[in-house]
Amino acid sequence: MNTENLAIIVGGTGSIGSAISNEIKNLGFSDIIKIGRKTNPFIDFNDENSIQQTVDFIKNKKKPISILFDATGILHDKNNNKMPEKTFKNIDLDFAKKNFLINTIGPSLLIKYFSPLLDTEQRSVFATLSAKVGSISDNGYGGWYSYRASKAALNQLIKTASIEMKIKNKNAIFVALHPGTVDSDLSRPFQKSNLKIQSPKESAINLMKIIKNLKPTETGKFFNWDGLELPW
Ligand SMILES: NC(=O)c1ccc[n+]([C@@H]2O[C@H](COP(=O)([O-])OP(=O)(O)OC[C@H]3O[C@@H](n4cnc5c(N)ncnc54)[C@H](OP(=O)(O)O)[C@@H]3O)[C@@H](O)[C@H]2O)c1
Repeated sequence: MNTENLAIIVGGTGSIGSAISNEIKNLGFSDIIKIGRKTNPFIDFNDENSIQQTVDFIKNKKKPISILFDATGILHDKNNNKMPEKTFKNIDLDFAKKNFLINTIGPSLLIKYFSPLLDTEQRSVFATLSAKVGSISDNGYGGWYSYRASKAALNQLIKTASIEMKIKNKNAIFVALHPGTVDSDLSRPFQKSNLKIQSPKESAINLMKIIKNLKPTETGKFFNWDGLELPW
């Protein structure tokens, strides 16, 4: 991985995204761009044009991307008092749409705009933060309809993009990552004492260890924070 190239963190303003930027810096990258909804340039998944404008800004740097890390996502919607659904009775059109917009459609637009900018000469990585609850085979508890389904769909997008990119750029690696339960606004209402809770820094160190060691043959896979492969 060429550390002279760009590292981009979309959702770089979030808890895990901020910690990931620090760890990318520790890897030796100096050109790191952290993007949130209020940065300049910014990305808001409600506005495809914001992604196009960010990509135009990045193209002006005339360097390929070595790491595109997507740390965006939602689980609950505090402003509208919406929590993940415990039963199908709680499924709500607006909340479901919001989950799919931010957890699935937004990352699909990142694939569309950023994949062509990934380094073709040396290893490059497109990583997205998914969630273990998005694994269909691992679903033992039910509930959380919109979040689970939007992350399962995100996993499918990563697998699909990995197949297309094997032809277009053999050095590009596409992965979905589960960060573990990490202390953040997103997870706070659901943290239980029996769960191992990592700080954003701990999780970011673990996730960057995976990214550092990824091989092109591992494209299209889903990894847990400890490096073990997860089932789709
Ligand atoms: N924390 C956990 O325990 C845990 C467990 C499993 C999976 N994950 C996954 O890890 C990811 C990051 O979680 P986190 O705990 O770091 O959450 P977080 O601190 O709430 O960060 C969420 C990020 O998403 C961005 N975002 C929200 N709405 C957006 C939109 N409309 N357009 C573009 N960006 C938007 C936020 O941008 P702003 O800063 O601009 O608001 C922020 O950067 C999520 O995908 C989550 O599902 C987390």
